[in-house]
Amino acid sequence: MEPILEVAALSKSFPVKGLWGKAKGEVSAVKEVSFALKEQGTLGIVGESGCGKSTLARLILRLIEPDLGEVRFRGQNIVGLKENEMRKIRQNMQMVFQNPYSSLNPKMTILDNVAFNLWVNGASKQEARKQAHSYLDAVGLPKSYAGRYPHSLSGGQRQRVAIARALIVEPDILIADEAVSALDKSVQAQVLNLFQDLKKQFSLSLLFISHDLNVVEYMSDEVMVMYLGTVVEKGPADRLYSNPYHPYTQALLNSAPSMEVGVTTLNKHTPIAGELPSPLHPPSGCRFRTRCKFAEERCTHNVPRTTEVGQGHQVACLLYETGHEARVVS
Ligand SMILES: Nc1ncnc2c1ncn2[C@@H]1O[C@H](COP(=O)(O)OP(=O)(O)OP(=O)(O)O)[C@@H](O)[C@H]1O
Ligand SMILES: [Mg+2]
Repeated sequence: MEPILEVAALSKSFPVKGLWGKAKGEVSAVKEVSFALKEQGTLGIVGESGCGKSTLARLILRLIEPDLGEVRFRGQNIVGLKENEMRKIRQNMQMVFQNPYSSLNPKMTILDNVAFNLWVNGASKQEARKQAHSYLDAVGLPKSYAGRYPHSLSGGQRQRVAIARALIVEPDILIADEAVSALDKSVQAQVLNLFQDLKKQFSLSLLFISHDLNVVEYMSDEVMVMYLGTVVEKGPADRLYSNPYHPYTQALLNSAPSMEVGVTTLNKHTPIAGELPSPLHPPSGCRFRTRCKFAEERCTHNVPRTTEVGQGHQVACLLYETGHEARVVS
C-alpha cells in the first residue's frame, strides 16, 4: 500500500541573531530527513531534546517553510501549495501538543473548544456542537463536562479535549508531539491506550513524537531515531529495540530506565557520554562522532549514507557502509 505521508530530504535551518541583531550563524534543526508513514500505521519519532522533532512536525504541516525537500500527502507534494489549498490538507493532518492548557481557549467551554475546530472550517454552530458532544464521548469525557472550562480539568482530561478537538475534523493523520510528556505515569498509560483505541476506531495513521523510548516502543510499529537534526536509524519497532545498529540508538536504549508503560522498574542505565554539541556548530562528517565510542578518523570527513541492514531497517553509520559484518556491540 502507498504510504499516506512521505517526507523526502526535508531540511530547515534557522538564522540565529547575536547581540544587536547581528547574524551569528544558523541552527541546522532538520537535515535531509526522509521517511514514510504507512496508511493506518504508527511511526514513532524519538531523540533527545533539541534534535528537531517538533521542527519536523511543523514543517510537515507547513507551519514553517522548509528550505529544501518534499512532503507528500497521498502522493501529492504539498510544499509550495497555496494557503487555501493547505487549509484542506491541514484538516487531514491534525496535531496534538504537549501542553493542552496553552492550546485550549480558557474562555471557551470544553464543548466549544472542540466545536470551534469544526465551525472555523465552515460548519454551523449547531452542527459543530452536536458533533463535539459525540467526540467528547469518544475520548471518554462524561457529558457533564461539556459546559465546564479548561481550568477545572486535570491534565489528562485536558489532553482528551485536545484529542477530541483534533478528531472532530475527521483527519487521516494525527501528529502527537510529546502529547503525554507532561502527564503522570498512570495518566500517561490511560491516554496512550486512548490513542490506540481511537486509532483503530477512526482508521488513523499516527506520527508519534516523544523523547521517551518506552512510550514510543509501546505505541509504534516503526520507529525513527533522530540526532541533531538527522535520522540515524529507522525500522520496525521490534527489530530496532531488540537489535539496534547505530551507536547512538544503542546508547539511547542503554540510557533509558526500562519500563512497562505506567510502571518504572529500576535497572542499570548508563547516561550517554559527552555533551550534546551546539546545533549552531554541528560536528563535521557524522554528527554523532564526538560522543561515539566507535568513532574513527573517517567519521570526521564523511557524512554517513543510509544503509539497509534488514528488511525496512536502515542505519546511517559509516561502520555499516564498508560491509562490516560484525555489528558494534555496546
Ligand atoms: N524558531 C526557531 N528559531 C531558532 N532556532 C530554533 C527555532 N525552532 C527550533 N529551533 C532550534 O532547532 C533545534 C531543534 O528544535 P526542536 O524544538 O525541533 O527540537 P525537539 O526535538 O522538538 O526538542 P524537545 O524534545 O525539547 O521538544 C533546536 O536547537 C532549537 O533551538
Ligand atoms: Mg519538541
